Amino acid sequence: MKLGRNDDCWCGSGKKYKKCHLGFDSKIEQAQMEGMLVPDRKLLKTPDQVEKIRQSARINTGVLDHVAERIQPGMTTAQIDKLVYEYTVGHGAVPAPLGYQGFPKSVCTSINNEVCHGIPDEAIVLKEGDIVNVDVSTILDGYFSDASRMFCIGAVDEEAARLVRVAKECVQRGIEAIRPWGSMNEMAEAVNAHAEANGYSVVEEIGGHGIGLEFHEDPYVCYVPCEENDMLLVPGMMFTVEPMVNQGGREVWLDEENGWTIRTSDGKLSAQWETMLLVTEDGVEILTE
Ligand code: MF3
Ligand code: CO
Repeated sequence: MKLGRNDDCWCGSGKKYKKCHLGFDSKIEQAQMEGMLVPDRKLLKTPDQVEKIRQSARINTGVLDHVAERIQPGMTTAQIDKLVYEYTVGHGAVPAPLGYQGFPKSVCTSINNEVCHGIPDEAIVLKEGDIVNVDVSTILDGYFSDASRMFCIGAVDEEAARLVRVAKECVQRGIEAIRPWGSMNEMAEAVNAHAEANGYSVVEEIGGHGIGLEFHEDPYVCYVPCEENDMLLVPGMMFTVEPMVNQGGREVWLDEENGWTIRTSDGKLSAQWETMLLVTEDGVEILTE
């Protein structure tokens, strides 16, 4: 049902619709008429929700800092899992991966040619020269956060270090291209162009996601411009920027044996950093580092 100009706004501000979200809704309708995919209203976070999600994100950043201070050669990925579990639970939160669609551990640890969703294991030992992604996701009072970083274990070779650095720059470029009333493809274009300019490729099959009230919400976030998923970006949307950048080709395969781990098809390295953010009236607010 369409709201009248003098009705209370749908956002709960207590203001009249005409003084609140009427102009906002008209802009969305306009974009939709022009054929653009637009976000459903339920994807727009309220100020209260944003505050709860910020608190979840703070713990998530704390977990990553905790890992960063301890990760070293000789450590197993099961030990990283234990660090994540204990820190998270010790701060009154729950690791989102644990039991998520049957995922057996509290964190994803993806080494070298592993693109994402590596499963921590007592038999996997980090060794000098490895590059590893630690992907941490937290639930605090029902609110979700998600971020990942790359770690270079001891001294890594120059090519690996360059991939790790460029993958991080890709996230920064992507974020810089995000603007309210802009489009998702502007972000994807910036990410993909920077990867390609450095001789790398971006994985196409796996994207990012909306987040906050659930682990994975709409929109689907791609990092290679695509027509199907392009969407208008409006204030209140929250999603992850987490491109997977490959040293070689963009093709990947799923390890059917554990049902989770994605690896590069050519066996070359892959790197990923993940940030979650809120689109605001005048730009973005980064929620995780
Ligand atoms: N943290 C991953 C992401 O960025 C999701 C992993 S799902 C899990 O979307 F079950 F493997 F944890
Ligand atoms: Co994510």
